[in-house]
Amino acid sequence: MTEYKEWLRNKGLDYRDGVLYFADMNTLELAEQYGTPIYITDEHIIRKRYRELKNLLDTEYKNNQIHYAVKANSNLAILKILKSEGSGYDCTSQGEIFACLKVGVDPKSILYTGNMFTNKDFEFAVNNNIIINLDSVSQLDRLIKVHNKLGKQKNIISFRINPEFGAGHHAHTITAGKEIKFGILEDQVLDAYKLAQNAGFKKFGIHQHIGSGIINPKDFEKAAENYLSIVKTLASSLDIKFEFVDFGGGLGIPYKPEEEPLDIDIYRDMVIRPFKEIVETGVIGTPTFKIEPGRFLCAESTIILTQINTIKNNGFKLFAGIDAGFNTLIRPTMYGSYHHIELCNKQGREDIIEYDIAGPICESGDILGRKRMLPKLEEGDILAILDAGAYGFAMASSYNSRPRPGELLINNKSVFKIRKAETLENLLEGQSIPKHLG
Ligand code: LLP
Repeated sequence: MTEYKEWLRNKGLDYRDGVLYFADMNTLELAEQYGTPIYITDEHIIRKRYRELKNLLDTEYKNNQIHYAVKANSNLAILKILKSEGSGYDCTSQGEIFACLKVGVDPKSILYTGNMFTNKDFEFAVNNNIIINLDSVSQLDRLIKVHNKLGKQKNIISFRINPEFGAGHHAHTITAGKEIKFGILEDQVLDAYKLAQNAGFKKFGIHQHIGSGIINPKDFEKAAENYLSIVKTLASSLDIKFEFVDFGGGLGIPYKPEEEPLDIDIYRDMVIRPFKEIVETGVIGTPTFKIEPGRFLCAESTIILTQINTIKNNGFKLFAGIDAGFNTLIRPTMYGSYHHIELCNKQGREDIIEYDIAGPICESGDILGRKRMLPKLEEGDILAILDAGAYGFAMASSYNSRPRPGELLINNKSVFKIRKAETLENLLEGQSIPKHLG
């Protein structure tokens, strides 16, 4: 069992004289200087997580590539950090590809795993020489037409396979199984690749992503078994030597202090080793082993600092009202997700009380932490909401016409603004009033 202090330290946090420090910086001073709510990212943690994973892959199977799942956090600075580590990228939209290209990412290191692709999406990808990972057999026909229209060569193609075993922290994040919209089921796989061969594609990749927020390596094992058996059958039936076999993302992180981190050594034993054994048979060629972690690389790198403005005792229950809501971090409301909350000042006080931590949005579901035991809180106190680096800002909104917060990056005790906070004016941008309304 990871000790509490150690659990915090793994996320760049520690207490000094009752004050919470993040990335060696005093959180109270950061809140004072930059205002709240604010997202703050520790660059070091992203690099550390990337290297942990990369070392693990390198020791087992050298021909590997991590594709960071951009949807988790598409801030340009984050993309650039991962670029400097040698990461590839998994993108789900033109916007994500656009961001990667903006920071000088080589198009060859981008995989476009969209779903419900439009012809415009295909044109954008083909024009930019991005490898496409199709989500439906029917899309192939349209993609071929786009190639022909643009006069572009058909080179490499990949399909997303649905291995019919999914997992995830919430029903909405399980992405495999017969009822699920993603990927191609086993009985269509052979047809899909045969059609692609006949259409003139020369090189092939294959992909699966079973879900998100998986902490039990056994879940990966089960899916990998099904997936690898499909890969093998396909390779031998159509004589395909794969360029890459992509196992998707989904690697979870310990959001709760009592949770153990995902044991990546077991992940290696259950996923990479069986893959390697199949490669050694010679049937599938010598493909690059790919994975697409989002959360694992950046969730723990980021906290949100938020200030308590209201302590409300309704006679039944105590609420601590803060300036961050589900507009800032939607995961607790959307999935019932747990994000640990720490008091930045006055830690060590003995008078522990139960609070619901409530945001300012006009909906009862705007609770960022339920039944949290914290030292007696006061208006003006600062709280840190942990593990907000993945699907945090990326899913933030301006609901209730509240500007989205800014983002800071800390590197070796230097603070960099990586996104300005939106202003009230920004909220109105792009709108116009028709003349007849005066
Ligand atoms: N690859 C594909 C094709 C994906 O769809 C996803 C996530 C990933 C990789 C990265 O998954 P990760 O390693 O981050 O678990 N908003 C939800 C998560 C949705 C993830 C959707 N796809 C949340 O906040 O938990």
